[in-house]
Amino acid sequence: MTRLSGKRALITGSARGIGLELARAYLAEGAQVAIGDINIDAARSAAEGLGQGAIAVRLDVTDQASIDACVAEVEAALGGIDILINNAALFTAAPLVEITRADYDRIFAVNVSGTLFMMQAVARGMIARGTGGRIINMASQAGRRGESLVAVYCASKAAVISLTQSAGLNLIPHGINVNAIAPGVVDGEHWDGVDAFFAKYEGKAPGQKKREVGEAVPFGRMGTAADLTGMAIFLASSEADYIVAQTYNVDGGNWMS
Ligand SMILES: NC(=O)c1ccc[n+]([C@@H]2O[C@H](COP(=O)([O-])OP(=O)(O)OC[C@H]3O[C@@H](n4cnc5c(N)ncnc54)[C@H](O)[C@@H]3O)[C@@H](O)[C@H]2O)c1
Repeated sequence: MTRLSGKRALITGSARGIGLELARAYLAEGAQVAIGDINIDAARSAAEGLGQGAIAVRLDVTDQASIDACVAEVEAALGGIDILINNAALFTAAPLVEITRADYDRIFAVNVSGTLFMMQAVARGMIARGTGGRIINMASQAGRRGESLVAVYCASKAAVISLTQSAGLNLIPHGINVNAIAPGVVDGEHWDGVDAFFAKYEGKAPGQKKREVGEAVPFGRMGTAADLTGMAIFLASSEADYIVAQTYNVDGGNWMS
């Protein structure tokens, strides 16, 4: 299939996990893909593993100079950016009375400011080229409602849903469609970290929380990164031309809205 033939995509935080799988799927659909990640060594080996059409770019979404340099580098290497996926994010958990300002700032710098200022930098180029484009933000079921131990991450993902709505309305006159995907629980290194937080705060054995959340999904199992590729391709394709400012749940039935 080549639904993204000739398209140039930048995917943040795509050296591993969901972002890497989305990069693989985009390449298979004919796109060129820039792997933007703070872990440049992992980004380089990811791009090498993906092969032709993939490049690695150093990117720290919390640093404006790094955002500007990354966007300029990708635009120069690929001739422009047609699709941005804001995928980089960090997770944290703590009881409310133990949340620190430093941890709040760290999470919001990546998940919220990172998403906003990446959208801004890439949209400026899309507007200047006059070719429109697609922006896909990775939200989460965590952004749909609060969770007892997850106030900061949940709030950051609610902000991503809200930014998707405002940016979607503001950029559609330029032919830029902004939408988001809200995954549920997706197996991988990220969830190994989440599991460790619950082991600490809920006294669970390692792996127990992960097993429980998988069993609770109506579909019957945790998601995989590959479960998200269909929606990511669709939202970047011409089939989604009339879809603006939406957040789609891809979570095996965990959340309905
Ligand atoms: N895994 C899940 O269960 C799940 C569920 C819902 C939503 N999500 C969302 O999906 C997205 C991808 O999740 P994942 O599970 O693949 O995460 P992950 O932790 O496996 O990967 C995140 C990537 O982001 C990179 N990164 C971190 N800080 C960065 C920064 N400042 N600048 C650039 N890159 C940075 C990391 O190096 C890593 O490669 C995230 O937005 C996450 O919140 C994940």
